[in-house]
Amino acid sequence: MVIRAIKGTRDVFGVEIRKWNIVENRILEFMRKYNYEEIRTPTFEQTQLYLRGIGDETDIVNKEMYTFIDKGGRSITLRPEGTAGVVRAYIENKMYADKTVKKLFYMGSMFRQERPQKGRYREFRQFGIENIGTEEALADAEVIAFAYNLYKALGLKSVKIEINSIGCQECRKKYLKALKNFLKPHYNELCENCQRRFETNTLRVLDCKNPKCKKVTEGAPSTIDYLCDGCKRHFKAVLHYLDIQDIPYVVNNRLVRGLDYYTRTVFEVTTDMLGSQNAIAAGGRYDYLIGMFHSEEIPAVGFAGGMDRLILLMDEEGLFDDMEGYKPDVFVVAVNDDVRDEVVKISGLLREQGFSVETDLAMKSLKSQLRRAGKLNVKNVLIVGPDEIAKRVVLYKNMEKHSQKEIDIEELKNFKRIVE
Ligand code: HAM
Repeated sequence: MVIRAIKGTRDVFGVEIRKWNIVENRILEFMRKYNYEEIRTPTFEQTQLYLRGIGDETDIVNKEMYTFIDKGGRSITLRPEGTAGVVRAYIENKMYADKTVKKLFYMGSMFRQERPQKGRYREFRQFGIENIGTEEALADAEVIAFAYNLYKALGLKSVKIEINSIGCQECRKKYLKALKNFLKPHYNELCENCQRRFETNTLRVLDCKNPKCKKVTEGAPSTIDYLCDGCKRHFKAVLHYLDIQDIPYVVNNRLVRGLDYYTRTVFEVTTDMLGSQNAIAAGGRYDYLIGMFHSEEIPAVGFAGGMDRLILLMDEEGLFDDMEGYKPDVFVVAVNDDVRDEVVKISGLLREQGFSVETDLAMKSLKSQLRRAGKLNVKNVLIVGPDEIAKRVVLYKNMEKHSQKEIDIEELKNFKRIVE
């Protein structure tokens, strides 16, 4: 029986993992730049967290969660996204106690049972940031600026930021009434899901991908026209802070997002180079989510970027074309098996000095070791032979300069001086 990776999951290795490492390191640099602190939350949580947090009329909760009953009879779900877990951890660890804004980031696997296709997987990776503890528009603008500046620094040219405000609970009520009135005469034209959503989660009708529903909602009222004064001011302030940082954006009145916890600002970073999986990041404000699990409302805003799609897009845009693969700094070759111990010792000595060192572990011939060193494109090769060891020297080859010389084993203690 052949055991294969589960549908929608992937192995990442070779040149691909090099791309991931480059991107992950750049993201970590950005986290430091903006002073976000890492949080690692569990990969699975109580199902209730997502049912209530994300909303039971969303696609994620309705049909995409990996939920199971564990041996203790508890309902457990593999995290479909990061925000709910961070919020749970924030409350559980009383991070609100000092009343400061907490700036947290995470990176990790998320799980959604969607139909797999290019850019859409069942296990995928996200990185995300959450600003918890303020309703100031400055915090929304920082999150959007982070996303924009990161993608720009990575060299992406095709990305676009779409932004909208869906208001607070008060203005949302008025908007939903208007939306329902608008949709009512078209009820029969809506897909089955949207007919249900019409009652349970009307806003989501705007997000339906069904062409019939899209057509119906073309002339739907815009959320922005129903914002209360506070939400209007807030949205204006967010756009102002983006303008002064020269961050380009498009206001998209139809943007509502697929998770229920959002209020006020919502945004997406999209590209036209990945076909239908065009969102590489998304986020927004969620001022009521913490209050659902805690005695007090604490406003927050954040976003998450899809790593898999980001790497695909960087590939499409040719941003890895000049990438160099991983290669060790030094290959230490054993001329015969009598000098294996010396090779082990020399490798250790060089690794202590910070060099990346490769040796032959399979006890192959001298010829095949040299072939492998050539294949790895290593710049420095040390050849350790019995005659040389007797003289306490080794042969050093600089493959770039095509030069070679004998060096004293003592000199290996400061190998940097030799390779420079
Ligand atoms: P989301 O829009 O569900 O938001 O996901 C964010 C990003 O994750 C998407 O834009 C996409 O790039 C990536 N993504 C989602 N599903 C898949 C998939 N099946 N395969 C590959 N990539 C995928 C959230 O998750 C929110 N928690 C964002 C947030 C953080 N809002 C506030 N704070």
